[in-house]
Amino acid sequence: MNSIAYGDNLPILEAFPSAAVELIYIDPPFNTGKTQVRHRIATIQDDVGDRTGFQGKRYRTLKLGSSSYSDTFDDYLSFLRPRLEEAHRILTSAGSLFFHIDYREVHYCKVMLDDIFGRDCFQNEIIWSYDYGARSKQKWPAKHDNILWYTKHPNKFTFNLGDCDRIPYMAPSLVGPEKASRGKTPTDVWWHTIVPTNGKEKTGYATQKPLGIIERIVKVHSNPGETCMDFFAGSGTLGEAAAKHERTFILIDSSSTAIEVMEKRLARFLCTKSSEDVDDRPYEKHSLTSARGFVMTFQELVTVTNDLIANYPEDQAWNNSPFNRIRPLPPGSKGAIGRDIASALLYSAGLTVMLRRTQLRVNGQGVLVRIALMWEQGIVKFQNMRDAEFDHVLCLALLPDQARGWLIPKEEIWQDGQIRTDRPGITSQHRGADAWITVNIEAVHPWMAAFGGTLEDVTALARTSL
Ligand SMILES: C[S@@+](CC[C@H](N)C(=O)[O-])C[C@H]1O[C@@H](n2cnc3c(N)ncnc32)[C@H](O)[C@@H]1O
Repeated sequence: MNSIAYGDNLPILEAFPSAAVELIYIDPPFNTGKTQVRHRIATIQDDVGDRTGFQGKRYRTLKLGSSSYSDTFDDYLSFLRPRLEEAHRILTSAGSLFFHIDYREVHYCKVMLDDIFGRDCFQNEIIWSYDYGARSKQKWPAKHDNILWYTKHPNKFTFNLGDCDRIPYMAPSLVGPEKASRGKTPTDVWWHTIVPTNGKEKTGYATQKPLGIIERIVKVHSNPGETCMDFFAGSGTLGEAAAKHERTFILIDSSSTAIEVMEKRLARFLCTKSSEDVDDRPYEKHSLTSARGFVMTFQELVTVTNDLIANYPEDQAWNNSPFNRIRPLPPGSKGAIGRDIASALLYSAGLTVMLRRTQLRVNGQGVLVRIALMWEQGIVKFQNMRDAEFDHVLCLALLPDQARGWLIPKEEIWQDGQIRTDRPGITSQHRGADAWITVNIEAVHPWMAAFGGTLEDVTALARTSL
């Protein structure tokens, strides 16, 4: 299953099973000791603009915003070493590591990787050559990155050269029309443009790498159905390349901006609507039958809306509540916030938290999160829980002036795929598809009280049972 995880990659890698991933591509922050910043700009034609472009036309530059991350590490190699050791452990026997680095660091990293993988497992140093940006007049302009290829086994590894894209011959007239039209496979020097500055591919994330380079690696060094990982994932280029070619991706990054960019970029590969997302509640018959048959003007609609709102009693209990802003949100947004609150709570308790849409993985176990606001005085209902791949349900109740939580093992709610009705408070809804739990905060069902209570109770339980 495709996944994106948020956090420092080391503890997440340490919790990963051995020999589980066929291809790892990483592009760690370079040790240049400065903050990488990408400015997003737009150019507009303007006779008095600050830039001269094609055919001498003048352009004005508008700065739209910027994104950045720090790439300073006190000791770069000691930061990288444990992560590369984990990468070696996680790779399958025919697996490969692609390590993307700049020309200033590559030699130190090569020595370290020879030590971890063995010199006989070093296969190639790929030079990615581009031609973009300012040209130094003091020395040869550095216009390449280095990509080191290591394999887990010295001579048994995936190498599907036949699946590689082909490049044009430099002198096509010398090879004949048939060969010229087929092109040739590349060498270890790859000429490729940087991510086109105005193209569809661009996400705006600093140091985003071109899809063409990563797609070549994915196609040649893994097979459809296999798993590809990038634990310095940035904008998620590896994820896009993997999904495009029917591989599964695992992406990790410690920057919340990167996670946001990836979730947006890869939404189409993550949002497989599960049955859990389907709301099949019957529509309620509306009572305004007399209003049928005439067309309202916009102003009339505003008046009716205001009248209807005035009929709803204001719930004084929430007026001064710190949770007041959550209350009017639609169910989807409440769910997303619930997941974030739960991950913050568990993360602060020292657990390793990974996010995947409506689910969390906490210390490697699947946790479904449900939040409930007060339904009526003192009563909360955790709704629409469907049996799926998770081990626990974390129920968080947000009341106007307090929060409660329970970490319930799945078998307390379902047994042999059936919702348990022998537990007080659990009801089966929507023709047996969904479980709901109704709780009176002042008199919690004894079976449920064993699984939490205050936030301290539930985090203490999470520490011992996850
Ligand atoms: C050079 S960028 C990767 C760019 C990516 N290849 C792409 O195409 O967008 C390096 C990434 O490593 C992330 N990073 C740095 N330290 C990390 C850590 N300890 N754990 C996880 N991610 C980390 C940064 O947030 C940054 O997004």
